[in-house]
Amino acid sequence: MSTLFDPFTLGPLTLPNRLVMAPLTRSRADEGDVPSDIAVTYYTQRATAGLIISEATQISAQGKGYPKTPGIFTEAQVAGWRKVTDSVHAAGGRIFLQLWHVGRISHPSTQVGGILPVGPSAIKPAGKIYTSSGTEQEFVTPRALDLSEIPGIVQQYVDGAKNAKTAGFDGVEVHSANGYLLDQFLRDGTNQRTDAYGGSVENRARLLLEVTEAVIEVWGKDSVGVRLSPYSNFDDMHDSDPVTTFTYVAQKLRDLGIVYLHVIEPVNSDHPMAMPESETNPIAPILHKAFGGTFMLNGGYNKQTGNAALKSGEADLICYGVPFIANPDLVERYRTDAALNTPDPSSFYSGSVGGYTDYPTLAEAARQSQ
Ligand SMILES: Cc1cc2nc3c(=O)[nH]c(=O)nc-3n(C[C@H](O)[C@H](O)[C@H](O)COP(=O)(O)O)c2cc1C
Repeated sequence: MSTLFDPFTLGPLTLPNRLVMAPLTRSRADEGDVPSDIAVTYYTQRATAGLIISEATQISAQGKGYPKTPGIFTEAQVAGWRKVTDSVHAAGGRIFLQLWHVGRISHPSTQVGGILPVGPSAIKPAGKIYTSSGTEQEFVTPRALDLSEIPGIVQQYVDGAKNAKTAGFDGVEVHSANGYLLDQFLRDGTNQRTDAYGGSVENRARLLLEVTEAVIEVWGKDSVGVRLSPYSNFDDMHDSDPVTTFTYVAQKLRDLGIVYLHVIEPVNSDHPMAMPESETNPIAPILHKAFGGTFMLNGGYNKQTGNAALKSGEADLICYGVPFIANPDLVERYRTDAALNTPDPSSFYSGSVGGYTDYPTLAEAARQSQ
């Protein structure tokens, strides 16, 4: 029976433990969406994680949705990420890049030239989005991508994957969760296309599968993971039959042989990403069975629930988000049953060092109290 502190073989990597740091947008990139020097510190502080997954990183200007998120499509961005990966590796860590295209979750004020964001269909999300002007604005109705533009979208992921290699990452995670472009194609609440990329489950899954296959061409299947959030209704997402949709996706990803499938299904019902269905009818065990390979779970886990999920065989790896924001040495704290720092949500997406690189490790806290 495995615990969080047992090593795990992930493709060519040996993870020293089974705690994965979740992809976490922190909105602190420099001008030109270049990862900042404090990002080097932030990621290096967390290098004892079995694996770090970087914050979502836009693969193109079109794929950008929020202010100050980093990209992976210019030389300066690649050079900025290189500093992060070199430093994480020097500290003994491993890091994947999360490849991101936001699709409709953007705003003309964030798009170059003030153009409309794109999506599978011209369906406006309910709600508002935080923009570069520092204010929240109503979402707009996106422009539906033309069939002729789809190969260009796949190419954006290929370019991002190649750049991630140049930047020294150990692998990539295709972000197909949380209501962004690939998730928008998967679910019928956002995809009402009538061409080969809409309608049937096979058609709605086509873009994700084409992207994953193309990214595997760059990296090899042992270094590519995929993230899904089947029940999340974040950013106005909905599917009429998530079990059928996502079981098909898990089977196809199994056939492609990706190195892990990462599923967000919160363990507790009061979690912000929980939906009622996930309490009564969990989908993760169904997807685990359909996928059959390395399975990563995320959503509200702590040491005890993480270990329980590993012991029962529900998952091979447990991914922690907020706990890693507030505890750079989360692995050590769990290992020694030490108290955890309290996260400060007000600085999740803002500020510089404050709430980013100034959460103390146990050793620093001990020094400060002397
Ligand atoms: C501040 C913040 C930023 C996030 N950014 C991302 C992101 O860039 N990509 C992503 O897939 N999920 C993102 N998420 C979701 C987390 O990866 C994770 O699914 C969520 O925090 C639940 O895990 P937890 O309960 O361990 O925190 C973010 C969550 C938070 C709180």
